Amino acid sequence: MPTLKDAYADAFLMGVALNERQYTDQDDRARPIVAAQFNAISPENVMKWESLHPEPGVYDFEGADAYVEFGEANDMWILGHTLVWHSQTPRWVFQDENGDPLTREALLARMEDHISTVVGRYRGRVDGWDVVNEALNEDGTLRDSPWRRIIGDDYLEHAFRFAHAADPDAELYYNDYSLENKPKRDGAVRLVRSLQDAGVRVTGIGTQLHAHMDWPTVAQLDSTIRAFAEVGDVMVTELEIDVLPSRGSQSADVSRREEGAADLDPYTDGLPPEMQQALADRYAELFEVLLDHKDSISRVTFWGVTDGDSWKNGFPIPGRTNHPLLFDRDGAPKPAFGAVVRVA
Ligand code: XIL
Repeated sequence: MPTLKDAYADAFLMGVALNERQYTDQDDRARPIVAAQFNAISPENVMKWESLHPEPGVYDFEGADAYVEFGEANDMWILGHTLVWHSQTPRWVFQDENGDPLTREALLARMEDHISTVVGRYRGRVDGWDVVNEALNEDGTLRDSPWRRIIGDDYLEHAFRFAHAADPDAELYYNDYSLENKPKRDGAVRLVRSLQDAGVRVTGIGTQLHAHMDWPTVAQLDSTIRAFAEVGDVMVTELEIDVLPSRGSQSADVSRREEGAADLDPYTDGLPPEMQQALADRYAELFEVLLDHKDSISRVTFWGVTDGDSWKNGFPIPGRTNHPLLFDRDGAPKPAFGAVVRVA
């Protein structure tokens, strides 16, 4: 069976998100899979603000340096993720030393310091950056984050300008989830177009594609890629397919799970054969769409190596056993792996 990167060599890069154990020597299960199967990497957490810049004036590059060195040693395309986000960003970022909200000027100065320090450090080594992550609401309007509240709607423009100044050759992306839903997809296109019209370098849009068995539809994915191709490169940046049920609203599910509801966690002993097959078919259906658009798509990245690594074991409902990736908990390829290779 060919590897993922060989099967898709004429289509797009095949990427994977790495946690810190996987590029140090602590995870012998994932590392050989990564080296053999993938030619692009994303840092699952190690380049987020809370990891790189935990306190005012304090930067910690140990993990991020190791991540970049791993990518270079394996001749991989290297993503930086992510510079400006509302999540995994310490609260101090938005406050002065008295705990009061920063002024617009002070927060812009802090943003510039962070971006120029981080992007500047990896200039010429990190190939592209998720400059702004998850800035949109489901209806396509700008999300109410501390960045936006303090700086204003133009915080995105500044973030992209600072990143471009720090590494003029790096690709610069807008990245978000649920972009397959039309209002949010349209909002992303509007946002990126208006930045580009203002002369800001935005080279493409990443759709995270945290998929489920029944979402997005093939038609939704197809129209999203088509729309994004009009404004730049398209990337699938955080792919997995959640196989677990949701029964009600997210908060209702979380409380039912806390009370021990077993129907929300049905595959603790492994995925039964019919579900393995359904997952394989679902991956094949999504990759057929991606292949139809191979001229617009530059990279498709899985959010984790093995099922055991996936954040989907804990999100949105904590403490479940999910099976969303191509390799099982022992690192063995699942039927879904074969399906993805076969449709190439
Ligand atoms: C997730 C990581 O996988 C988890 O380990 C962490 O606890 C929370 O963040 N969108 C993103 C990613 O852009 O950075 C998130 O990663 C998943 C959702």
